[in-house]
Amino acid sequence: QHDIIIAIDGPAASGKSTTARRVAKKLGYTYIDTGAMYRSVTLKAFEHDMLERLKHSPEDVRILLDPLSIEFQGDRVLLDGRDVTAGIRENRVSREVSFISSLKPVRDRLKTLQQQMGEKRGVVMDGRDIGTVIFPDAELKIFLVADAAERARRRYAELVQKNGNPAALPSLDELEREIVQRDRDDAERAHAPLRKHEDAIEVDTSSLTIDEQVELVYSLAMERI
Ligand code: C5P
Repeated sequence: QHDIIIAIDGPAASGKSTTARRVAKKLGYTYIDTGAMYRSVTLKAFEHDMLERLKHSPEDVRILLDPLSIEFQGDRVLLDGRDVTAGIRENRVSREVSFISSLKPVRDRLKTLQQQMGEKRGVVMDGRDIGTVIFPDAELKIFLVADAAERARRRYAELVQKNGNPAALPSLDELEREIVQRDRDDAERAHAPLRKHEDAIEVDTSSLTIDEQVELVYSLAMERI
């Protein structure tokens, strides 16, 4: 028995993080949410009031990267030592994260961090470019997809659960538009765009339950361990 790397990529809200987290738990592996890392850099840009400036001078992003520390502590995310678990899920972050993640210096830095995190293997890592760029030698590569309306419904349910107050939330239509727009931005960018590695196994979760997704990925992993 040997520890492997499981790469789970796919568009926004396709069920990656829930599946990845639960598969990691079943295997006793570490779960790494790379989207949370791009969200952390985006939050930092807001905190430094730099978003507008970066749209004109993207090279200034180095100010945010020097220094930069992102750590996972159980389910918590620490940015430069502070807990940002809630802040990185804010809608303003979701709206700007594709822009920040299109910047080459950001991708280069997070690539180094992610490769270090997976160095000892025994990880489940989810994102957009894990199978294609970060760990192209991952023993198991999954590409999770689901139709956009279903993804919007899931994201909405998740927000209601977290926020409690549906009145304060974007509408289902609005959420679907944002999700589709983000996928387009992620797929069309120059550096490490969202795409399926030729060896990746495509799983459509539109009509699967979470339990079914987890079982499927878990059994594919067990065949490779
Ligand atoms: O996974 P999540 O939806 O939280 O990711 C947020 C955003 O971070 C994505 O829409 C994408 O712009 C960026 N991202 C990326 N590469 C990854 C993971 C996330 O560019 N590996």
